[in-house]
Amino acid sequence: SKDIEHLSRPPLFDFHGVSMIHCFTDNWENIQKFQARPDDILIATYPKAGTTWVSYILDLLHFGQTSPDRQTSLPIYERVPFLESDFHILPPGTELAEKLTTTPRLIKTHLPVQFVPKSFWEQNCRVVYVARNAKDNAVSYFHFDRMNIAQPEPGDWNNFLQRFMDGKMVFGPWNDHVTGWWEKKQTNSNIHYMFYEDMIEDTRRELDKLCSFLGLSPSEEEKERVRGGTQFDNMENNNMVNYSTIPVMDFKISPFMRKGKVGDWKNHFTVAQSEQFDEDYKKKMMNTTVQFRTVV
Ligand code: A3P
Repeated sequence: SKDIEHLSRPPLFDFHGVSMIHCFTDNWENIQKFQARPDDILIATYPKAGTTWVSYILDLLHFGQTSPDRQTSLPIYERVPFLESDFHILPPGTELAEKLTTTPRLIKTHLPVQFVPKSFWEQNCRVVYVARNAKDNAVSYFHFDRMNIAQPEPGDWNNFLQRFMDGKMVFGPWNDHVTGWWEKKQTNSNIHYMFYEDMIEDTRRELDKLCSFLGLSPSEEEKERVRGGTQFDNMENNNMVNYSTIPVMDFKISPFMRKGKVGDWKNHFTVAQSEQFDEDYKKKMMNTTVQFRTVV
């Protein structure tokens, strides 16, 4: 429809050194002056690292018991506003966040660490950062860009991968994002840095760590309920979290809940692509201590 035409296949442009598209910069002034509250929880990720999974986990941990209606009546993107988004088909993320009446507010962002509104740091907000290995992250991003016309044209896989390596992705290079947040975490104990691969390997263990970071102590029964409800198959079939209510996404091309696996990159990378990627990765990740697993 006409509503979504202006969103269609937006061009990438350089925004303070980071590739962006207009729907994440149009509302920039309001984003930068956004007033965080001390109990806000920021969920920060590079796109396709497991944002929705962790958002739903946090939502259930905080509101699963007290507001069961919330789970059946509000899609996840209204429960957990996407801070920098300004898609016009929804109110901008800053407005959605301001309208939230529940506490704590859960707020999602894909911003690289240097772009986070300063009030989140001033208020000492807790941040849950989720990172995913570069190869699977690239594959997931490729399929997302194919099915979502609000993202730039992906081109073919080889083309896309080259662009991923060049850092010409919405929200910039993967490596700058994961290492920028990793460095920030070294001096800020309010940042809980998680890995998608760890979540897949042992969701319960990661759930326990998350609860201890958040200062929550749910019963065993409740934790099991959260783990069960947020399993891939259950989220895939849950219209309130699977994005089936979003007009710009074409699930016939690829569903939002696509595979949910570690190692799907092996079905996409040729041997030559993988070698070239590894070579490039070594150079870019030379000066950081953050370590990723591409298999579990
Ligand atoms: P794939 O495309 O590899 O399947 P985001 O929410 O940051 O956009 O990330 C989306 C990715 O997380 C997709 O990866 C999606 O399938 C995966 N995902 C979402 N929910 C999941 C879950 N409960 N368990 C495992 N993976 C999940």
